[in-house]
Amino acid sequence: MRIVHVASEMYPLIKTGGLADVVGALATTLAARDHEVSVYLPAYRPLLDALPAGLVARAGRQVVRLGSADLVADLYRLTTEAGVTIHLIGRDEYFDRSQLYWNGERDYDDNDARFIFFAKAVIEHLRGQDGPADVVHAHDWQAGLVPVLLRHAEQRSGVHLARRTVFTVHNLIYQGLFPRASFALTNLHESLNAMDGIEFYGRISTLKAGLMYADTVTTVSPTYAREIATPEHGAGLEGVIRLRNGAVRGIRNGIDARIWNPAADPLIPAQFGPADLSGKIACRRHLCSRFGWPADFVGPIFVIVSRLTEAKGHGLLQQVLARFARTPGRLVVTGTGDAALAGSYRGFAATHGGFMAFVEGYDEALSHELIAGADFFLMPSLTEPCGLTQMYAQNYGTIPVASRVGGLVDTIVDLDERPADGTGLLGTPDAKGLWRGIERAHRLFNDAPHLADVQQRGMRRDFSWDSVVGEYESLYRE
Ligand code: ADP
Ligand code: GLC
Repeated sequence: MRIVHVASEMYPLIKTGGLADVVGALATTLAARDHEVSVYLPAYRPLLDALPAGLVARAGRQVVRLGSADLVADLYRLTTEAGVTIHLIGRDEYFDRSQLYWNGERDYDDNDARFIFFAKAVIEHLRGQDGPADVVHAHDWQAGLVPVLLRHAEQRSGVHLARRTVFTVHNLIYQGLFPRASFALTNLHESLNAMDGIEFYGRISTLKAGLMYADTVTTVSPTYAREIATPEHGAGLEGVIRLRNGAVRGIRNGIDARIWNPAADPLIPAQFGPADLSGKIACRRHLCSRFGWPADFVGPIFVIVSRLTEAKGHGLLQQVLARFARTPGRLVVTGTGDAALAGSYRGFAATHGGFMAFVEGYDEALSHELIAGADFFLMPSLTEPCGLTQMYAQNYGTIPVASRVGGLVDTIVDLDERPADGTGLLGTPDAKGLWRGIERAHRLFNDAPHLADVQQRGMRRDFSWDSVVGEYESLYRE
């Protein structure tokens, strides 16, 4: 099949979160199964700068109509080792910035123009290809307008661009909300700027555009697919989701086993597998020494690696920190994001250095070291479409202590519920639930044979893309 992905991130080219991991691994896995796969991305400055010279070729320019302006897009192209064709859409005015979506304090105020431009440039480029794609698969709000713009372009010009469009919601919280006046930039018919179109409570939502106009909508886990049809998790869009009547399918994310495999991971100090955990002990010692703790520290070590946002449960963790610090455990927090959350972690770590370390930043290598060296991985998310790190953690023998929401339910087997095959500890998404999880973790830690057993079960679980890519293939075939 000829499959086109449109997204704003793709690992290893550019990443701020799980979306990048998913787009990168899904495209690569599909290409390995002999599909013709291409991915459209914005040509962000950090992405271009990180590419080795000679790898990327300029591929001409193209005019994009944005409202009443004709703007030029600079095109680049490269092919990955796996054979995926990457098309980069550039325009310095929009993408020559150090961050993808925000200036460090708030979202860029031209994100509407930036991503409407991106989506329209993709459509223009597709118009220049010979023959339609079998599937155009758009991801999240940044590409949410692609399905409707595509059909609109087909109607206007009589060219067939795609047999089917798919839209995947990676997180319903990020809705691509812009002033209603921004609608003019789409050049779509004004009738769509309405409640039964892409208008959403007085603004426009590019996420809603994807939900409304794609042939098929998917999300990244079965439980989240059910949750988002309810007011509790639907973030105001539950009505739109329900309108799609069974059309929202949940396909759990896989993980990239070429990058997240403790037996072959070059980013950790010692490799290991379920049959021999001695490498994990070396990773643990390394972690301790990195934070100035005794190498043979005997209590449980907890880590959390995630964006610093309320949705990831950092507010809950901060509520229990003082109590947590009185346990025999240790904690490492790393992440970037919300300045207030970072500030309070920094403050707490400064006065409780013996208990906790806080590393503010985004560091791929450190994330591997922490996930490999820790005993428990905290994921007290309030909502979690799928989540990847809890799967990484299990495969690295690090037991997740997580909320019973979304994809966490689909990927973690609770130890109390199923003692014989449990791989983690699930609780309610509140401070009480988190605290209970921490207590359970301490008890499990003190029962060494049981602990090793649970670790090994998690390590043996197969979360690879090979185990789920077939679901995308059959969806595309349909
Ligand atoms: P989300 O996409 O909501 O952020 P996921 O669990 O799906 O959550 O994916 C997060 C990805 O980002 C994982 O690959 C995780 O390792 C990575 N990540 C998050 N924060 C950091 C950080 N501070 N340093 C390195 N990697 C990080
Ligand atoms: C989003 C979600 C996360 C999911 C990721 C990849 O960022 O927050 O749960 O794993 O997308 O689909």
